[in-house]
Amino acid sequence: MKFNIVAGDIAQQDVGAVVVNLFEGVTTPGGATGAVDKAMGGAISALIADGEIKGKSGEMTLIHTLGSITPKRVLVAGLGSPASFTLDGVRSVSAEAARHLNSIGVQSAATIVHGAGIAGLDEQASAQALAEGVVLGMYRFDKYKADASDANLNEITVVEFDESKLDALKSGINVGRIIGEGVNRCRDMANEPANSMTPSEMAEQALEVSQAHGVEIEVIERTQMKELGMGALLAVAQASEEPPKFIILRYSGDPQNTDNNIGLLGKGITFDSGGLDIKNAAGMATMKGDMAGGASVIGAMQAIAQLKPKINVTVIVPAAENMVSGAALRPGDVIRAMNGKTIEIDNTDAEGRLVLADAMSYARSVGLNRLVDVATLTGAMGIALGDKCMGAFGNDDEFTQQVVSAGNAVGERAWPLPMYDEYKAQYRSDIADIKNTGGRGAGAITGALIIGEFNDGAPWVHLDIAGVARTGSVKGANIKGATGAPVRTLVRLVCDLAG
Ligand code: BES
Ligand code: ZN
Ligand code: MN
Repeated sequence: MKFNIVAGDIAQQDVGAVVVNLFEGVTTPGGATGAVDKAMGGAISALIADGEIKGKSGEMTLIHTLGSITPKRVLVAGLGSPASFTLDGVRSVSAEAARHLNSIGVQSAATIVHGAGIAGLDEQASAQALAEGVVLGMYRFDKYKADASDANLNEITVVEFDESKLDALKSGINVGRIIGEGVNRCRDMANEPANSMTPSEMAEQALEVSQAHGVEIEVIERTQMKELGMGALLAVAQASEEPPKFIILRYSGDPQNTDNNIGLLGKGITFDSGGLDIKNAAGMATMKGDMAGGASVIGAMQAIAQLKPKINVTVIVPAAENMVSGAALRPGDVIRAMNGKTIEIDNTDAEGRLVLADAMSYARSVGLNRLVDVATLTGAMGIALGDKCMGAFGNDDEFTQQVVSAGNAVGERAWPLPMYDEYKAQYRSDIADIKNTGGRGAGAITGALIIGEFNDGAPWVHLDIAGVARTGSVKGANIKGATGAPVRTLVRLVCDLAG
């Protein structure tokens, strides 16, 4: 998508369509909507008076201008009530408007920035949400379809009457485009089937990010995993024909101050069959997406490398495939993680915490002192919170709150769950330091606590995205398939911490 930002009159843009908006309850449109209405001889206010345009959230009304103004069409987007209109609303309406125009063959459109008027949203933030909405809302995963066609809509001109606002709008649009593209890389990776998105392909994707945006990459192979003692990652990978990859990306935004760092860890199980504790057909159906956490940290790094915040960020993805074979990990086996802790395997399907155990141990061994891990860790998470919100778990309330706030600011909700010590009894082992499951009760919490066993005291937050990583419907900026959560949260968090 090409974005232009210009000062001027939206009714005079040489484009296929213009997008204006209307809040619910407004009978005489003002601002750019009012100007377009006047130029068209009151066509919009007449439809408001008739009751066809109500300004309800999600309402889209297409008007053919028949020569009254330069653009052939005007799309009036309803915004709902100004009091409840947020940046998430901007993202949604921008996505829906873009899809609407694309579906009727419009190639270029001009739009105003929604919400900066009556709703009082910050212009730059609104412009960012607009660009995110367009880039996310136009996303498609159709590379395997013979009848896939190019998108129609390929150019958006953001028009602002007040010239003094152009610079703010330009940076907002640029940041939004960068973040939207980061989210879309995550979606691309998580939508890709497991026969192509292997651990090696995840490393390729990381290499692409490294080469395109100048971040350092290191990929640890099986031999070196053995030397480092990554017994947990190796155990998960041992039944697969696909070699595991331990992927590291390093961005140095504050090289003078190496303690100013954060590690972003993502579960990279490219397919989760369950292992010998094999899943049933329904449970296995979406397990190509079990690397969504890993994809999210790679997607976030793509954006971070372009936004250049003053902080050092290391992305770590332990990537492996959880399969079955004569060489598979067995229930009852005892393995040793990189930090020396032994783990009795109670269930081979609880593999995410195993690969993350080694990722955490590694992160601490290289001096990362603040950590966030992202994982499609437990089915229990989806049961607890559904698909409206991810779970946040941590050992430091202030840091957890920072992550939750970053999510709230970007329209990705996270809700903190408790990490009481009493739960730890659930994964006590008779023969090893711990076992890898803690029973049915509080399954998302015990999963989080088990990962926490490897973090050695650093402030850490675990985001369980099992409920939110995929969606079954097209709504606002979301497209059916991988959502790309929580790329926006991670980017925001890193920028907040950079100050
Ligand atoms: N990848 C799954 C969790 C999952 C389930 C993600 C559904 C997305 C949708 C994870 O590896 C898993 O299998 N977890 C087990 C843990 C149990 C064995 C303790 C689960 O949730 O059943
Ligand atoms: Zn899994
Ligand atoms: Mn599993």
